[in-house]
Amino acid sequence: CGIVGILGRGAVAPLVVDALKRLEYRGYDSAGVATLENGHLERRRAEGKLRNLELKLSHAPLTGAIGIGHTRWATHGRPNETNAHPHATDKLAVVHNGIIENFRALRDDLQAKGVVFDTETDTEVVAQLVTDELRQGRSPTEAVAATLPKLRGAFALVFLFEGEEDQLIGARHGAPLAIGYGEGEMYFGSDALALAPFTDEISYLEDGDWAVLSRSGATIRDAQGHPVERARQTIPAGSAVASKGNHRHFMAKEIYEQPEVVGRTIAHYVDFSRCAVRLPELPFSFRDVSRLSISACGTAYYAGLVARYWFERLARLPVEIDVASEFRYREVPLDPGQVALFVSQSGETADTLASLRYAKDQGQHTLAVVNVPTSTMARDSAVVAPTLAGPEIGVASTKAFTCQLSVLLALAIGAGRQRGTLTEADERRLVEVLAAVPSLMTEALRSEGEIETVSREIAKAKDVLYLGRGTSYPLALEGALKLKEISYIHAEGYAAGELKHGPIALIDEAMPVIVIAPHDAVFEKTVSNMQEVAARGGRILLITDRRGAAEAAMDTMSTLVMPDCDPVVAPLVFAVPAQLLAYHTAVFMGKDVDQPRNLAKSVTVE
Ligand code: G6P
Repeated sequence: CGIVGILGRGAVAPLVVDALKRLEYRGYDSAGVATLENGHLERRRAEGKLRNLELKLSHAPLTGAIGIGHTRWATHGRPNETNAHPHATDKLAVVHNGIIENFRALRDDLQAKGVVFDTETDTEVVAQLVTDELRQGRSPTEAVAATLPKLRGAFALVFLFEGEEDQLIGARHGAPLAIGYGEGEMYFGSDALALAPFTDEISYLEDGDWAVLSRSGATIRDAQGHPVERARQTIPAGSAVASKGNHRHFMAKEIYEQPEVVGRTIAHYVDFSRCAVRLPELPFSFRDVSRLSISACGTAYYAGLVARYWFERLARLPVEIDVASEFRYREVPLDPGQVALFVSQSGETADTLASLRYAKDQGQHTLAVVNVPTSTMARDSAVVAPTLAGPEIGVASTKAFTCQLSVLLALAIGAGRQRGTLTEADERRLVEVLAAVPSLMTEALRSEGEIETVSREIAKAKDVLYLGRGTSYPLALEGALKLKEISYIHAEGYAAGELKHGPIALIDEAMPVIVIAPHDAVFEKTVSNMQEVAARGGRILLITDRRGAAEAAMDTMSTLVMPDCDPVVAPLVFAVPAQLLAYHTAVFMGKDVDQPRNLAKSVTVE
């Protein structure tokens, strides 16, 4: 979860630990460091907090001047010392964030060649792949270059090689990695914050980049292997927590962080080695529950609306959902012993908190999906299911939303298993579908250029209508909310099937209609609604996937094509274009994207 690499002048292990401490806020359950001691790889790793690692280091110090370190949130394999990073072979040590999706296939190939694995982790697969290249006589740089194209998923990696006292190699593919420039020292860090004690000169690698560091500088290459320059920036002291990186706005940075933070959140709820969902410890079984009530506000409410489809479909569990400001006063009858679920980024929203207290009074089991682990909701709720989005600064919620969706989908799958509505095989398939989400989001981000172009059209509109069916209906609501929050253009989300019951009267050539339609079970129905719009001269922006685009063939203002994905995770992938569209429209209109007028990040009043 946190990565540090240092090419230093003296013993680096204590510095690595210091840097890791700064990344503690991301959460972790084991930690480790590797250095070269007279050219030879040495590691110290420990389960639990960093002080356990420090204790190990005090008994068995490391003195090498080059090293890498890591704090880990368990993904593949349990959070014990064996599975802690750095992972090593006799030739290299590596630290890794993110998920290598195709690790099974890669491991099978290596095992067929006779490679023996020590752990169940996807990281060791990377270590063994590069080692295999080294054994064939390749240099470290060639070995990494040969390995990276084989890896699928969203990840960041830093390698340290036996005998290479002046070289660290790092790669960024969907998870962030920054380079720090010091005086005769060089650094890698998973964010600027980790490097703040050492340097304020940073350059952020871009997706697909990989870099070779020596004490005299960095050589950066892009995914095609071409040398590239990445601008160096000076990070003002004290601002590293809230750094925008290469982005103009926090909102853009947070949209781009999604493959990483969603990957991290999914990994927290999934045991990849067993291909099963890991539920938080619950004082009840979903088997004994006959109703789930969800309440939340704003974007978190829309995450809850998506979750209703998941809980009903996957777990056959009836769901009642309302905005918290209504739920708290509706005098909802709740049978004791049922489950009430609350979704909140801040964990402080007054209405949601009041709903939680109401539910408690009604004898409900309370379950809070929150992003701030120290928040009031996290303290007041019987069970906390954290989203691991990290601090969200942009007022318009983006990464918290997709992390909420990730947790809610994992909970729905877990509920389905407990209720016997999903078989083990269903669960395995769904876990595989979940694992692919970060890289699908990375792919969705690639449509930014086209979205920017369409946003110029949207910026001219006074009103915009968003349509969707199934889980794309709440996404239509969220898309409309994003647009109105930051561009101040009036926007409404509608269930596509409701169009004919009113809003169709509004259709004319001045109002863009944005149709969110992945190729799912209701795709054709949505296309019919789209035809109703087209027949009345409406201007349509269709957001669909490749299969959808091939089938929908009609005259639209434009079509944004997302990668094909399993419909169950479409809300996570299609959230990306909805967010980018609102973002670019607002930027084009010159609005204050991160601090929209009248809105607050956390609303602690009624
Ligand atoms: C405010 C924010 C929204 C957010 C809502 C709920 O209105 O501007 O972005 O969705 O509160 O906040 P919460 O912290 O409970 O998720």
